[in-house]
Amino acid sequence: MKFFIDTANLAHISEANELGILDGVTTNPTLMAKEGIKGTEAINNHYKAICEIVEGDISAEVLSTDFATIIEEGKVLAALHPNIVVKVPMIKDGIKAIKWFTDNGIKTNCTLVFSAGQAILAAKAGATYVSPFIGRIDDSGWDGIQLIRQIATIYERQGFKTEILAASIRNANHIIACAEAGANVCTCPLDSILALLKHPLTDIGLAKFLEDAKKMG
Ligand code: E4P
Repeated sequence: MKFFIDTANLAHISEANELGILDGVTTNPTLMAKEGIKGTEAINNHYKAICEIVEGDISAEVLSTDFATIIEEGKVLAALHPNIVVKVPMIKDGIKAIKWFTDNGIKTNCTLVFSAGQAILAAKAGATYVSPFIGRIDDSGWDGIQLIRQIATIYERQGFKTEILAASIRNANHIIACAEAGANVCTCPLDSILALLKHPLTDIGLAKFLEDAKKMG
């Protein structure tokens, strides 16, 4: 399973990248706004800055919802750097745009996916990635991990090449469950990635080893 970091915060991106286990980055308008990025030039420069830090796919989301404007916006984003993946919402014009981008050699990430039916449409349109929002599904009383499992089964049986990018990750257990359920990629906030490191027995064991190491002189 590939690891992406789900943020537009350059310090977090650098910290995760320095671990040596990062395969890419996802952003969305909320995450960009949180960093105070405003205006087309600043947005595009921010994407370029992320591409300079991480060698891997970087999702940049379109802000429009009609076919023609999604295409224009996506072409500009894709031209920023070869690693840019155009993130397109799961709407009718979005699916048409994903098909157009696929036919024109531009990678896509179909976002805001909450059902297996939507995941089938994204795969049929040739999306590079499909992003089911695990945390938001759980928040609404449904089972996000079960959706990952269902999409993984469908994609395998149907031979779809679209990669399942588990998004809206809330904690380390989500990451483990997504790996078990068949996600190809997990995009996570930095704290969820770092939480994977933690186990109390590791801390206790290390403290004892360090104490005993002192006896070794
Ligand atoms: C990433 O591609 C998604 O936009 C993101 O994971 C959504 O996460 P949230 O539900 O925490 O906003």
